[in-house]
Amino acid sequence: MNTSITVIGSIHIDFYVRLPKLPVPGETVLGYDFIMKPGGKGANQAVATARLGAHTYMVGRIGNDIFAEKLLDNFAKNSVDTEYVSIDKTTHTGTAFILLDKKTGENMIAVAPGADAHVSKEDVEKAIPAIKESEIILLQLEIPVDTVIYAIKKASKLGRKVILNPAPATILPEEIFRHIYVITPNRVEAELLTGVKVKNIEDAIKAGKLLVNKGVKYAIITMGDKGSVIVSKDIAKHIPAYKVEIIDTTGAGDAFNGALAVFLAEGYDIVEACKRANAAAAIQITKLGAQEGLPTRKELESFIKTHEVRRKNAKNKQ
Ligand code: RIB
Repeated sequence: MNTSITVIGSIHIDFYVRLPKLPVPGETVLGYDFIMKPGGKGANQAVATARLGAHTYMVGRIGNDIFAEKLLDNFAKNSVDTEYVSIDKTTHTGTAFILLDKKTGENMIAVAPGADAHVSKEDVEKAIPAIKESEIILLQLEIPVDTVIYAIKKASKLGRKVILNPAPATILPEEIFRHIYVITPNRVEAELLTGVKVKNIEDAIKAGKLLVNKGVKYAIITMGDKGSVIVSKDIAKHIPAYKVEIIDTTGAGDAFNGALAVFLAEGYDIVEACKRANAAAAIQITKLGAQEGLPTRKELESFIKTHEVRRKNAKNKQ
């Protein structure tokens, strides 16, 4: 079985401030504390796939600053292969400023891309050996969209399956969708891509169908505590979320995409892979930091078992 995965994307250092509430424009809110953590959607997804046991190649750039070594160490600790991560001497490491509501776990994020903005077609070309070796190529939209489009076309031409997590939301050229195996927008991103305001499961199915008509094989709309909705030519299925105590929702989508990639690469069908991805996202949000809660294989399996027993017991009581 081939479980190599290549993630092409952003690498950040996340600066967190925890607050009693999120500010509105023009408002200053006094917070509790300041914390620094590794982040970036690309890096988070790479750590997610590696913790679940996939051989993971990261393709991206970090800057010429004090964070570079820290982030490379973090990849090494998590067994992410950094052969295709380069240090860009011309700029700083991508940085995210995260305001976190301590009560609800909700956030607001501002990103200064720095080196992410220089991830190029040449970087993708250099990583062709990794792409050829990988079953799945996982991308997001925190690096230049031209690079993402180039990588998607290249990977699809090489017969690789592409998962695109279209975050943050960006308009994409129509011709790209037919090269995508799975697209995983959240509600806001689905609206931008399809024009459908996603308020409930029916809306998600409608948006998913439009994405499938554009050419993707599967559209999975992630809906936070409402779970996710899978749509293909033959399926329209809602997968409920697991209920957990929320500490920090940052990186929930990354945990979802990483797990989805691993289980699809291992040959699970889309519904089973999506159930496991929901579980990974649920575990991730029980800890502070975009990578802190990303589960190992053992943690994921034990979480699913415990929750299945709880669901069965609850059903028997009814
Ligand atoms: O998806 C969460 C990530 O978004 C954070 O780690 C932050 O770096 C931003 O890129």
